[in-house]
Amino acid sequence: MIEAANLVKRYGPHTAVDHANFRIENGEIVGFLGPNGAGKSTTMNILTGYLSSTEGTVSVDGLDILEHPIEAKKKIGYLPENPPLYPEMTVREYLFFAGEIKKVPSGVLRGRMARVMETVGVQDVSGRLIKNLSKGYRQRVGLAQAMIGDPEILILDEPTAGLDPKQILEIRDLITRLGQDHTIILSSHILPEVSAVCRRVLIINQGVIVADDTPDNLAKRLLGGSHIILRLDAGEGAVSDVLAKIAGISGREFREPQEAGTVELVLEAAGDVDIRRDIFRAFSAADIPILMMRSLDMSLEDIFLHVTTTDAAAADAAAIDSAAAAEADHVSTGDGSDNSDSSAGNSSGEEGK
Ligand SMILES: Nc1ncnc2c1ncn2[C@@H]1O[C@H](COP(=O)(O)OP(=O)(O)OP(=O)(O)O)[C@@H](O)[C@H]1O
Ligand SMILES: [Mg+2]
Repeated sequence: MIEAANLVKRYGPHTAVDHANFRIENGEIVGFLGPNGAGKSTTMNILTGYLSSTEGTVSVDGLDILEHPIEAKKKIGYLPENPPLYPEMTVREYLFFAGEIKKVPSGVLRGRMARVMETVGVQDVSGRLIKNLSKGYRQRVGLAQAMIGDPEILILDEPTAGLDPKQILEIRDLITRLGQDHTIILSSHILPEVSAVCRRVLIINQGVIVADDTPDNLAKRLLGGSHIILRLDAGEGAVSDVLAKIAGISGREFREPQEAGTVELVLEAAGDVDIRRDIFRAFSAADIPILMMRSLDMSLEDIFLHVTTTDAAAADAAAIDSAAAAEADHVSTGDGSDNSDSSAGNSSGEEGK
C-alpha cells in the first residue's frame, strides 16, 4: 500500500504538485494521467523518495518514506522518465551494478538477474553494450533495473514513451503480466494505454488530482445519459420533425456530416433509457433511412479532455466531438507515442535506483 497525504511541491513560486491525496492498495494497477507539465514525474519522484515534498507525506506500507527511507525504498522499484542507464556497460554489468546499489545479497543477485532478464526479455542481449540497444530494449533494461530489488511496488514513469507501436504493445503486455504480482503505478499521456492496462486512473492537471476512479465510472459520471450518434438520409428540418415525436431525448447536437447530403447528429438520452428502438420506428415511419446508428462511448481521452479543460462546457462539447470523430475514423489505439522533451522533473536520475 502506498499513500500520499497532502503532497505539495513548490519550485519557487510555481506549485508543481498541489495537495495531492491518494492511496493505492496492494495489487492495484493505477494509471497516472496528465498533460505535459501536470506534475506526474514530480509526484513519482516524491513517491519514490528521490525528491522531497514541500509539504505532505508519503508512506509505503505504513512506513514514512523520509523517516524510513531504506525499508520503504526497498519495497519500490522505479523506472524514472529518463532511466539512469550507463551506455558503456553491458546489460549484465549494469544489472549487477544496479543490484549492488539496491543491496541485493550477493548470494541471490545472479539468480535474480537471470530471472529479471527473462521476465523483461533481454537475455539475448545481456552481453551487449547498452548504448547499442534499441530504445525499446533500453526501456526493458530500465524495467529490469526497477525489478532487481524484487520490489512489491513498481512505479513506472512513461514506460512506453518513444517506443514504436509494436514495442508499445510488448511493454504493455509485460506491464499487465507484472501486474499479476505487483502493485503498479504507471504514468502516461497515451490515453488508450492507460485504459488498456489500468483499472483505476488518477488524472492530474496543473498539480491537482482532478479525477480518481475506474475508466468506466469516470465515463458514466461525466456522460449522465447515453449518447447515440445517427446518420440520416434526409434534411435537418425533416429530421427535427421526427425527433420531436421521440420521447426520452434530453439533448441533441447536429454536427458536420461525414457524408455529403446526409444529416449527422448526437442524441442524448436521459438516464439509462435505451431509445434506439424508438429512433428506428420513428424514422421508419417517416420513411427516412438510417444510414448509421451507434452508441457513443466516452473514451478515456474524452474524460481526460473534460477534466483537464477548465471550461467544462467547452470540454463537454470537445469530448463528444472527439469521441464521435474517433468513431467516424475508426481510430483504434492511436498510439501517437509522444516522446516529448519532458526533461524537467527528473533531475535525480543518477540516484534513481
Ligand atoms: N527541477 C525543477 N525546477 C523547476 N520547475 C520544475 C522542476 N521540475 C519540474 N518542474 C515544473 O513542475 C511542473 C511539473 O513537472 P513534471 O515534470 O512533474 O510534469 P509531468 O506531468 O511529468 O510532465 P511530462 O508529461 O512532460 O513528463 C512543470 O511545470 C515543470 O516545469
Ligand atoms: Mg514527466
